[in-house]
Amino acid sequence: MAGNNPFNPSFGGKPQFFFGRKRELDIVSEALENPNSPYRALFFTGNRGCGKTALLERLSVMASEAGWLCVDVHSANASESIVRKLVGASSKTTERVAEPAVGFVGASVKVGSLRTSATTTYDALDLSEALLQTSGSLKQHAGVFITVDEVQKIPEADMENLCAAVQMSMRKGMPVALMLAGLPESKEVVSAYKGCTFMRRVSDVRLDSLLVSETYDAFRQLMGLASNVETCEAAIDELARYSQGYPYLMQLIGFHTLEEAPSAVLHQVCEIDQHAVRFAEAAAYEQFCANVLDPVIADLSDEQRVYLRAMAKSIDGDGRSRTGDVANVMGKEQRQLSAVRDRLIRKRVIVADGRGYVRYNLPRMRQYFTDPVEFPAYEDDDVWKHE
Ligand SMILES: Nc1ncnc2c1ncn2[C@@H]1O[C@H](COP(=O)(O)OP(=O)(O)O)[C@@H](O)[C@H]1O
Ligand SMILES: [Mg+2]
Repeated sequence: MAGNNPFNPSFGGKPQFFFGRKRELDIVSEALENPNSPYRALFFTGNRGCGKTALLERLSVMASEAGWLCVDVHSANASESIVRKLVGASSKTTERVAEPAVGFVGASVKVGSLRTSATTTYDALDLSEALLQTSGSLKQHAGVFITVDEVQKIPEADMENLCAAVQMSMRKGMPVALMLAGLPESKEVVSAYKGCTFMRRVSDVRLDSLLVSETYDAFRQLMGLASNVETCEAAIDELARYSQGYPYLMQLIGFHTLEEAPSAVLHQVCEIDQHAVRFAEAAAYEQFCANVLDPVIADLSDEQRVYLRAMAKSIDGDGRSRTGDVANVMGKEQRQLSAVRDRLIRKRVIVADGRGYVRYNLPRMRQYFTDPVEFPAYEDDDVWKHE
């Protein structure tokens, strides 16, 4: 590799350069300005590697720059991390829990003071109170901006705790924003919790590939940042088509293309063409399988996997599979398979595409189920269609 590599495909890691997602950033930016925005609470859902964590991270930075106090919550310590942050932000609670050592007790949060060795246990009401107090007494901050990643891993009682606190603060007109992220169907799961019914009214922002135009722009920009490298337009096209705008695959293919490019001789530039990109595809594919396709497919039932394989056998030139043909390959009646198909659609592993057709909803899935690889042509209609 000649010079620096602006791509860093570490899974769950923060990208060196964030690309795309203009629509989502605009929605949240508007919500921060407008106290009446219906988007102060949002649910981002999508498959592994589509960029949920990266987006929450970016939103947090954006909110922080806009003067909000940010609380980023991860699965293992939901209520705990909020209390910790609020404790640090509100002088009243600081006195109550000086030098807190925070432990976890079932549905509530136990905060022990090292100095007095007394413990204070926070339940839902306390969290609401802490949030209300903080958002009501903010001086240097515009509001409290809470992000919660991997909601599907957060215990039910904790989610109820959090929902109650946020809902209460919002009802009282306090400046609080709540941004949640999770796998497909996590919104339905959380909305079914007894104390989280308000989640049903929260918009589900479905994250998938970037727009076609965003994908080309991102590759042009990032390849332009690598020193001693010149990338021709055919290579940009190959990068975009191969990754299909799926953020993790974009990071992988960009990274390996640059890593595997021959080092430029001193004072010369290394030219990257489409062959250099193709050369890197095997390495990108291997990691994409290991970190995205294998775990997604491992989560499915045997019948769902057989359905996906049968789709590969009946795929047409446009990347679609006729549900009737899939049934024939499986030796079943179509109606016997409607439950399997619907389940796969709800998990967003496939999508319905016109009456009687389905297509894969993750890039490289066709390759996963059938080798050798074929590279299809995509329509430039600003939405990727995954084969
Ligand atoms: N908008 C983006 N810009 C740049 N890189 C991104 C973007 N979205 C995701 N990535 C990168 O893709 C990979 C997977 O993203 P991540 O946010 O961990 O996915 P998820 O949380 O949905 O599983 C990470 O390497 C991340 O840095
Ligand atoms: Mg993540």
